[in-house]
Amino acid sequence: MERIQAIKGMNDILPSEVHWWQAVETTAREVLESFGYREIRTPIVEKLELFARSIGESTDIVEKEMYSFPDRKGRWLTLRPEATASIVRAYIQHNLQADPLVQKFYCIGPMFRHERPQKGRYRQFHQIDAEVFGIEDPMLDAEVMFMLCRFLERLGVQGVGLHINSLGCRRCRPDFREALTAFLAHRAGELCPDCDRRRHVNPLRVFDCKVERCRDALDGAPELQDYLCPDCRDHFHRVQSYLSDLGTPFELDPRMVRGLDYYMRTTFEVVTDRLGAQNAVGGGGRYDGLMKDLGGPDLPGIGFAIGMERLILLLQQSRSHSGRVPDLFVAVLGDRALREGFRLVQGLRARGIAAEFSYGGGSLKSQMRRADKLGVPHVLILGDEELESGKAPLRNMSSKEQVEISLADAETALMEYLRRCS
Ligand code: HAM
Repeated sequence: MERIQAIKGMNDILPSEVHWWQAVETTAREVLESFGYREIRTPIVEKLELFARSIGESTDIVEKEMYSFPDRKGRWLTLRPEATASIVRAYIQHNLQADPLVQKFYCIGPMFRHERPQKGRYRQFHQIDAEVFGIEDPMLDAEVMFMLCRFLERLGVQGVGLHINSLGCRRCRPDFREALTAFLAHRAGELCPDCDRRRHVNPLRVFDCKVERCRDALDGAPELQDYLCPDCRDHFHRVQSYLSDLGTPFELDPRMVRGLDYYMRTTFEVVTDRLGAQNAVGGGGRYDGLMKDLGGPDLPGIGFAIGMERLILLLQQSRSHSGRVPDLFVAVLGDRALREGFRLVQGLRARGIAAEFSYGGGSLKSQMRRADKLGVPHVLILGDEELESGKAPLRNMSSKEQVEISLADAETALMEYLRRCS
């Protein structure tokens, strides 16, 4: 019989690796909540139109990568490719602007994009997403990026850098777009077929193209910085000085346009050179105007998302973390010891000790091998003889030294011993 496999690009997260996910989620919640973010959970499926209108019809995500399908009544639905649009929709739908002026939300969960799977790029992946609505203050842009860096620091991520840019606003971007369109018209023959089409519909997207000859064709292209209006220039300048005040290093990246159309003014990415082709660990920016475009109040917004798979790949490179190692392993020899050991382990667990048991017994050698594999520091060796004598040896697995533990009140004796060792 043919075995059923998971869908390509959609991965199981197995017990042996789930602790990485739990550690990242716990730290994310701690950091985000300390900055005033509250969790929001939106559905994984939304109307296709929500993403088409927010991310942009001519982006790669909407054109090529969405999992969209008609439901039984023929309405087009989409597995969410990102969280921002859904959070904005929920904010409008539930009239949340009636609450305080500045509101901060976060969401952790799976996203779906039909990209070609490779290391760090999957079809189901997970994001930690943070969004702030309500004010346009550049101080908030700096705080959002500062928080992102604090979070990565707390996790001990190494080898990442913060890149920032300003994409201008609806007033100044058309001038840049015009200049870029004129520039690209002269390079038309050098562009890939996709970019040749993009230069008419959405010329900024050409900056995103990974094709070598398109990158070469952009040599000498106009830069957004030179087209910013005085307000955007001032906003971006203040973002940079607030970042410096907070001691957050950054690099200006005038070619970074991000892959979603809703951005304006500040955009940023956390990049690394340690994950091969997938260099963005997280990214975000300001999207004033999106809320209004989706039928809500005219409120500014800014946020970012971190790709959890990429973050965990980086963490695995920079440190080893094998989850909670049991405090104690109980090895048993003989039928009576098997039953007594089983009872003892349950009692220890009830008192907060991570005790592991040698289910099924086996030879002492094989049980010690199991304990060693788990990395357990102490093993209690319980045989029928020990039960008779009322004392059992507790072996320190690294020094190989043994102490005698009284079995009269073994739980308390073991707890006290482990407390003294910690
Ligand atoms: P994004 O740049 O499309 O932005 O995605 C953010 C992060 O998600 C990326 O930097 C990457 O780490 C991860 N990611 C994206 N696609 C994949 C994939 N196929 N496999 C693995 N990881 C992936 C957004 O999604 C925006 N909604 C961020 C935002 C929030 N902007 C404002 N607020």
